[in-house]
Amino acid sequence: CGIVGYIGGRSAQDVLISGLAKLEYRGYDSAGVAIMGAEQIEVRKKAGKLANLAGELEITPLPGTLGIGHTRWATHGLPNDTNAHPHATEDGRLVIIHNGIIENYLPLKEALMERGHVFKSQTDSEVLAHLIEEKYELTAGNLAEAVRLALGDVRGAYGIVVTHVDHREIVAARTVSPLVMGVGEGEMFLASDVPALLPYTRQMVFLHDGDMVVLHDDGFTVMDLQGNALHRDIDHIDWDAEAAEKGGYDTYMLKEIFEQPSALTNTLIGRLNDSTGEVNLDIDLDPKSFKRISIIACGTAYYAGLVGEYMIEQLARIPVEVDVASEYRYRSPLVSEDTLAIVVSQSGETIDTLEALREAKKYGAKTLGVINAKGSSMTRELDDTLYIHAGPEIGVASTKAYTSMASAFLLLALWLGRARGTLSEQQGAELLHAARELPRLVEEALSPERVARIKEVAEKYAHSRDYLFLGRGVNAPTALEGALKLKEISYIHAEGYAAGEMKHGPIALIDANLPVVVVATESFLLEKTISNVQEVRARSGKVIALLSDGDTENAQHADDVLYVPRSHEMVSPIVNVVALQLLSYFTATALGKDVDKPRNLAKSVTVE
Ligand code: G6P
Repeated sequence: CGIVGYIGGRSAQDVLISGLAKLEYRGYDSAGVAIMGAEQIEVRKKAGKLANLAGELEITPLPGTLGIGHTRWATHGLPNDTNAHPHATEDGRLVIIHNGIIENYLPLKEALMERGHVFKSQTDSEVLAHLIEEKYELTAGNLAEAVRLALGDVRGAYGIVVTHVDHREIVAARTVSPLVMGVGEGEMFLASDVPALLPYTRQMVFLHDGDMVVLHDDGFTVMDLQGNALHRDIDHIDWDAEAAEKGGYDTYMLKEIFEQPSALTNTLIGRLNDSTGEVNLDIDLDPKSFKRISIIACGTAYYAGLVGEYMIEQLARIPVEVDVASEYRYRSPLVSEDTLAIVVSQSGETIDTLEALREAKKYGAKTLGVINAKGSSMTRELDDTLYIHAGPEIGVASTKAYTSMASAFLLLALWLGRARGTLSEQQGAELLHAARELPRLVEEALSPERVARIKEVAEKYAHSRDYLFLGRGVNAPTALEGALKLKEISYIHAEGYAAGEMKHGPIALIDANLPVVVVATESFLLEKTISNVQEVRARSGKVIALLSDGDTENAQHADDVLYVPRSHEMVSPIVNVVALQLLSYFTATALGKDVDKPRNLAKSVTVE
């Protein structure tokens, strides 16, 4: 979602609308602004594109020089006028915008209702408005203090922006969701992204996780949630508009690789129930009603489906088959009413997947989507959708959508396994813990030292003609995805194979010129994978091994080692693939390829 805030001497409406327009590339389906008038805060919001709201404001403008605005890329709740932000309290004196999810909103809401608060919507954001209102009274009208105390009661991810009719100030805070401030002369700006601010100022302050800030006409103060004052540097940003959209990274792909910790947080947040070892997925289908599952997808989404197959069969003991959509739709699939067809798609528009979904429905399957793009064609035809909430993915080669899809499959496997009794409470809790660790582990996988090492190895082998990728078990798909990424963006021929199957064919390719990437992280199958490594070395192949941190013993079998953070085996594909994304990335850039727009490929393929 996009956020813009303004306090200063200009028309707030103009700054908000122009800023929100710059955030358009994030996608949106409703928009709203709140502008401080002489006596009250005026809120205007509209479903649909920003143009709807802008058009209305052109006819009846809102005067005022302090305001906050939002474009919503709906995650929870329909993209209608009511669910659009900003949200106001009942008396309309306090207005908030909130990105993210409040995990503990139900108990908070119940307590607030007991204390007499009346709710208009089902949204977790409205809880924040009431909570701040209550603290506002408690602090005898100190807005910043009220926001700080309210956030102390809240668990979750948020970017939040608050105004109150009695104060000429904007209070904002963030965890996970980004916020950046623009510093002007006698005016201050706020936005979720740099491009919104570039036309006004290049003096910017990037807020850190856990920062809270108060904006006045002539400056700002930053503090932590304990109320301690913090110092934040003002950076001079000299990016052009395009660089700004890439958040300072050279390419969208690299930006999206680095967005994975927060994308994963967004996939998981609000869905893990630690006390019961269960997941809350808001899916209306009955998890006990299926005898078989078909997973259908194309490209990278298909490989996420292969990870899903492994997870669901292991944890929920239901037979799963995975098909590429273009095959599924023409092979008269054996489907009945006790089949659950799961389609996986970043865009929700891929025509083969859409047609395969229609085919499955025709035969009476129940259908569920693992989808990124809200409101896309598939979501309109599915019985139910589990959104991955990875945010817009612009790089053609999919990265963050893949890891979020695989995490969504972990959630599905837990949902099915707990409901069907194949997973004990304790096993559920252990896997929940592994899931919770994912954003941190992926962050760790992206540490500067690891990235530098991967770049070095990529450059060393960048002039190879072919590449082989091997993995076993839940990481067999990691090898396939690693090979696909390399092919897509570097144009080096690469094959991904189940490590044990190598001896039945690809072994003939091995010579001193063939780099072989082996996913050999902690696993009950590790010894077997290492045997395959020996087979490669015995034929002079060059081994690049992905090993778990601390595994010095197996390092001796490899020409080059890429260490990755240790993770629970079931979630390890999500951590391990990050190294392979970077390996292809740096191979492609070493060869001077355009990674965001690789030749012949398209982001969303709507032809057969
Ligand atoms: C195209 C893209 C791939 C993507 C596939 C499926 O081929 O180049 O990166 O994995 O489509 O796309 P979807 O949007 O359905 O996940």
